[in-house]
Amino acid sequence: MKLFIGWVLTYVLCLAAVKKMWSSRYLRSHLSRSLYMNMLSPNQAPYWEVSHQVCAQWYLCDKEKLSEELQPIFVQSFLDQGTQTFLNRSIEKSGWLSIQLYHSFMSSVFSMFMSRTSINGLLGRGSMFVFSPEQFQRLLKIGPDWKSHRLLDLGAGDGEVTKVMSPHFEEIYVTEMSQTMIWQLQKKKYRVLNIDEWQSTGFQYDVISCLNLLDRCHQPVTLLKEMRSVLEPTRGRVILALVLPFHPYVENGGKWEKPSEAMAVSGSVWEEQVNSLAAVFQEAGFVVEAFTRLPYLCEGDMYNDYYVLDDAVFVLRPV
Ligand SMILES: C[S@@+](CC[C@H](N)C(=O)[O-])C[C@H]1O[C@@H](n2cnc3c(N)ncnc32)[C@H](O)[C@@H]1O
Ligand SMILES: *[C@@H]1O[C@H](CO)[C@@H](O)[C@H](O)[C@H]1NC(C)=O
Repeated sequence: MKLFIGWVLTYVLCLAAVKKMWSSRYLRSHLSRSLYMNMLSPNQAPYWEVSHQVCAQWYLCDKEKLSEELQPIFVQSFLDQGTQTFLNRSIEKSGWLSIQLYHSFMSSVFSMFMSRTSINGLLGRGSMFVFSPEQFQRLLKIGPDWKSHRLLDLGAGDGEVTKVMSPHFEEIYVTEMSQTMIWQLQKKKYRVLNIDEWQSTGFQYDVISCLNLLDRCHQPVTLLKEMRSVLEPTRGRVILALVLPFHPYVENGGKWEKPSEAMAVSGSVWEEQVNSLAAVFQEAGFVVEAFTRLPYLCEGDMYNDYYVLDDAVFVLRPV
């Protein structure tokens, strides 16, 4: 009897997955795109030019809406080569039909009991991009040869973003909540610390990165204060990215929960939310030294070439 129910369940799942695949926008978008491209001159990539206009908007900031202290420290970023390479690679990958079908099928099975983050970790897909090496260096006002001792990357995901920062450090520590992501991080030879252990190892870190984590953890305010306590107190810097508009929620298994601690982010547009964040950081013992606006990019799947969120990236100095 159990066997039979199990079999029926598997069958229904397979059907659902196949239906999802074929009713998907995959065929429509990719077929139509290649037809469209062939109709136009062969050495032109029309969709790419369209997206270039869109891309320029990813970096825009209305400085007049910023508070007086923040205006002079805004760093203007742009679509550079590192970003372009990530986009090209992502577009290419999303066109690999068999791999995308395999991912889609596996996700629909695993999503019954695993978080999206963990599925991505398991399948080794959905890598993220925050900044290129050049963008990272410009923000921290360092040269390509700058070296320091310890980096701590909190909520490092699969470690692809850590990789951009790692050439500048002798020792690289990371934390992660998701077990499958921890496997990815160990594979890349980073030193994984427990999420309730890094606060009390007795180490001081030269740079702590906290990228796209504050809106995904239960205690963002506590986290900020803990970072302050293990940061090297004079030369130490925090690099912090946050997706705006601010929508905090925490992934728990396959479910979403409200965080237990509230962070006082206010305002409706990007600039206003940035202004309010400066006060949140101040409260935790930091002052903003520089900040920029960057797209937070994620590798695509069979529905989209890539995904884009709107990031504010800050460099924080302890006070
Ligand atoms: C949106 S991802 C960001 C990954 C990477 N830092 C980036 O910027 O692309 C957030 C990650 O934080 C992890 N996470 C959530 N709460 C955490 C916590 N309290 N400590 C460490 N990691 C956590 C999640 O598992 C997830 O992989
Ligand atoms: C990305 O792809 C476009 C169009 O195919 C090409 O013109 C450009 O040189 C590529 N850029 C990089 C950095 O790979």
